[in-house]
Amino acid sequence: PMPVLLDCDPGHDDAIALLLALGSARIDLIGITTTFGNCSVEKATYNTQRILALAERPDIPIATGAAGPLAGEAHIGDYIHGATGIDGPDLPEPLAPPISLGAVEFLRTSLLAARAPVTVVATGPITNIARLLRSHPEVGPKIAEVVFMGGSTDRGNATPAAEFNAYADPEALDIVLTSGLPIRMVGLNLTHQALATPGVVARMRAMDHPVGRACADLMGFFGDTYSDVFDFAAPPVHDPCTIAALVDPALITWQKSFLAVETEGRWTRGATVVDLHGRLDEPPNAQVALTLDVEAYWDLVLDAIDRVGS
Ligand code: BDR
Ligand code: CA
Repeated sequence: PMPVLLDCDPGHDDAIALLLALGSARIDLIGITTTFGNCSVEKATYNTQRILALAERPDIPIATGAAGPLAGEAHIGDYIHGATGIDGPDLPEPLAPPISLGAVEFLRTSLLAARAPVTVVATGPITNIARLLRSHPEVGPKIAEVVFMGGSTDRGNATPAAEFNAYADPEALDIVLTSGLPIRMVGLNLTHQALATPGVVARMRAMDHPVGRACADLMGFFGDTYSDVFDFAAPPVHDPCTIAALVDPALITWQKSFLAVETEGRWTRGATVVDLHGRLDEPPNAQVALTLDVEAYWDLVLDAIDRVGS
């Protein structure tokens, strides 16, 4: 299996991403780091502990990370994810505490100790990874690639121009995108294809175990806020698309492109600039996700959830 470190801010869709990783034989989840984003970092850590309790996997180490971005104020996504960051399901209490190392130190030691290069997946503001690369550039050769959920080839959701994770820490994303590491971007243009329709939610509920029911309840709350805030008929389940890309690369089509993030911009701070048509004459630095095989995606996610719960 492929060694993976997951950096996240659970978060309804982060929770599904985590369960997908746990339920996939091709992935060896060696640790989780948390960040502010959908909620405070303290809540993100607690929510991660509770999801691991639900999955009965308290053996996976959790390290707490950034409470805010590299510059400016923390933006919190409670208008989508509720006061806890993961409103809706009734989750068990933690079975294990987080480790005492902070996220950056845990990432550094895990990477340096790893026998083979590790895939780093980020499904929240990418602050922890930027801090790691800035203070410990020697870990670079131990990172196979960085796969992140964030940005878009088109419009945003936090602002008209910027996607939430990119908007929450543009300076951090800039550090990662200019690091020279292999990068894959899973942006809103891709994740808005991954809708949890009533049929998908019914398949979760029909599993008839606590993990399936918790996922259905997560989608219930998430669907209500997506309907209220964005007028979506079904919620886009963004974050698991990153893990799905690792488990079955054929699910997604990619285009190599120059990718940057706007850090200035009067109205466009945090917007990603994706040069799909090579207009800027800049060397490509990322693979950008374009289309999703939606049916195969849900089969993969639901099978993994069922495996975790059974
Ligand atoms: C991203 O922001 C959060 O709301 C989700 O967890 C996802 O990571 C989507 O813009
Ligand atoms: Ca997230």
